[in-house]
Amino acid sequence: MTHYRIGVVGLGQRIAHVLAAMQEVGWSLDVVAHVDPAPVGAPILATAGIRSGRPCADMAELLAQGPFDLLMLGAPNHLHFAHLMQALDAGVPIFAEKPIVRTEEETEALAWRLSAPGTPPVFVGLVMRSLPIVREVQARVARGELGDVVSIDATEHLPPEHGGYLARNWRRKQEWGGSYFLDKVVHDFDIFGVLAGARPARVASFGGRRIFTPERKDPPRTWEDGSAAYALRDAGWAGANDAFQSDMDVTDHQVAMVEYANDVRLSFHANSHVALTERRWYVAGTEGTLIADLVRNRLMVRRALHRGKPEKIDYGGVTADAHNGADQAMALDLLAALEGRAAFPVTPYDSLEAGLTVMAIDRAMDERQVVDCAPMWARYDAARGI
Ligand SMILES: NC(=O)c1ccc[n+]([C@@H]2O[C@H](COP(=O)([O-])OP(=O)(O)OC[C@H]3O[C@@H](n4cnc5c(N)ncnc54)[C@H](O)[C@@H]3O)[C@@H](O)[C@H]2O)c1
Repeated sequence: MTHYRIGVVGLGQRIAHVLAAMQEVGWSLDVVAHVDPAPVGAPILATAGIRSGRPCADMAELLAQGPFDLLMLGAPNHLHFAHLMQALDAGVPIFAEKPIVRTEEETEALAWRLSAPGTPPVFVGLVMRSLPIVREVQARVARGELGDVVSIDATEHLPPEHGGYLARNWRRKQEWGGSYFLDKVVHDFDIFGVLAGARPARVASFGGRRIFTPERKDPPRTWEDGSAAYALRDAGWAGANDAFQSDMDVTDHQVAMVEYANDVRLSFHANSHVALTERRWYVAGTEGTLIADLVRNRLMVRRALHRGKPEKIDYGGVTADAHNGADQAMALDLLAALEGRAAFPVTPYDSLEAGLTVMAIDRAMDERQVVDCAPMWARYDAARGI
């Protein structure tokens, strides 16, 4: 088996967890060097028994420690584009965290760069693509088990501690994270595009901040047993101390509607502070209906004209990190892709298109208008040269 020499740019919690999952599923690896001013993920790596390699000041110093078999990029979202451009020039396979980039301009520039000959492979951490339940949903829809998909209703509702972390971490600021939706639910909109089988034609959205705001009068700050709330994790790079008194400028709840080019219609509801958590996709087709419960890792399907019990599949393996084994599944997919045994389940173009979908949704919210996506797709296709 190949021993992988890995360079990391942005050794945060995410890359540390992915590296730990890679080792867990059998990768032979060394982190040779990393660039990170204050690696939040170092304790996670240490717990996994992986050394974090030589600390480097920048990508040039890191690349001088080569050769590398893989570069892993996991800095905050506003740095993704610059890091990707440097890594692409190095010609080494890249694992890049989502959202692949943060703005429409970066999307077009990256689409153009990716079309250059000799570009190394780019594997994007849209980790839900590797989950068995998500693969099953995609396969059943592709096989036509639901007939034609007509409409989709979906949610992602986070527990208070998770929302409180987002309100303190760098994700609270548009200039670093992009938006609540871009950072948190680009995964879901990536899959919705696959299920719909078309690109969004028109989008609308409403959202704002009504939970994590300084205007709220004395929000409760303790759990029923008296323990402190909103203190789950160290807020990390550029963190704020208090979830309610920070300079947050992204939404803490948001709804969106999408009409795809083939007339599939979707509604989406997200809230970052709920007592009953949910990540659920309800897919209604002409001949059947499916509910994917991504929190409990359960799938339920029934044909429209069937009176018997619905088919239920319980995938089990529910984990405290809410990833339910997706990181390990993605680590296996990444190894298979690098060894040429299978294509990685998501392409960089899929990632760019999911990102653009969410950016259009955020624009609709900001402008309080229905956004016609056609000009955006035309600019993107032109950048790709198609
Ligand atoms: N696929 C998933 O399910 C998933 C889950 C969580 C996070 N992510 C993505 O992973 C990325 C990192 O998120 P995270 O939760 O690990 O954040 P984090 O705050 O834990 O880590 C970010 C790291 O980047 C470092 N950093 C800051 N400036 C840097 C620079 N100039 N050069 C190099 N490193 C720099 C910080 O010091 C920190 O260690 C984000 O893009 C996020 O969207 C993906």
